[in-house]
Amino acid sequence: MLMTIFSKFRKNKPANLIPIDQEDPDFEEREKFLFGTSKTNNDEFERNGYLVVRNFWDPNDLREEIDYASGNYQYNQFGKYTISEEAQVPGSRARHNYPPYKYFHSQARIKIQNIIGKELFNTYHYDRVYYANQELVKHIDRPNCEISATFQIGSNTGKSWPIWIKTPDTYDENKNIVKKGKDVDIHLNDGDLVIYKGVERPHWRKPLKSRYNSAQRFFRKIMGKIDDTYHHQLFFHYVLADGERCSFAGQR
Ligand SMILES: [Fe+2]
Repeated sequence: MLMTIFSKFRKNKPANLIPIDQEDPDFEEREKFLFGTSKTNNDEFERNGYLVVRNFWDPNDLREEIDYASGNYQYNQFGKYTISEEAQVPGSRARHNYPPYKYFHSQARIKIQNIIGKELFNTYHYDRVYYANQELVKHIDRPNCEISATFQIGSNTGKSWPIWIKTPDTYDENKNIVKKGKDVDIHLNDGDLVIYKGVERPHWRKPLKSRYNSAQRFFRKIMGKIDDTYHHQLFFHYVLADGERCSFAGQR
């Protein structure tokens, strides 16, 4: 009851009073507040908030053997790392600024700049190996992920595992919603990339299905074998050189 009253109260607040990091389960007010704050010169990207680029690179150039580790690996500029618990996707293995991918971060920036018609600054890059049953909870990113891209390196599931992105709502001149955006499931193959407005567009992944059926999982357990299902994804993050978040350039 109290929550209902609270959420009604929040919906009536002017959009510009909603803090960016405030909890907002339906994202509506945050989307309204953030909409149009990361403008580019690509019409399709502006309309949908995302853009798929097929065969961005050969994924073999970025593949590594999967070690089934977990945790959050934070690399410094000398290549040394510390490990902490991975909070966003518990149990996955996430690497923050893993040095071998640094080159790709800048190379991708050049290509993405050409696609969106805007200059970008690097912030950080990140890769994650998801395992069976793990999900990415619906969220909007921090300011240093203003323009983001996610590249599919590899997977052993045999099927695509979509990333979901909500397209923008349409507003009238008073910023009332006249048409709701859609939840779109984006299916990538290894080597494909999707560029998205990390700060403006909510995005998420539903739980990753195991590559084994229940009987196979049961027998693997008896044999002492783990479920070796995995999905490896690499994220690149940037800010617009002429945007309101440009001071986040270089922030890891
Ligand atoms: Fe994100």
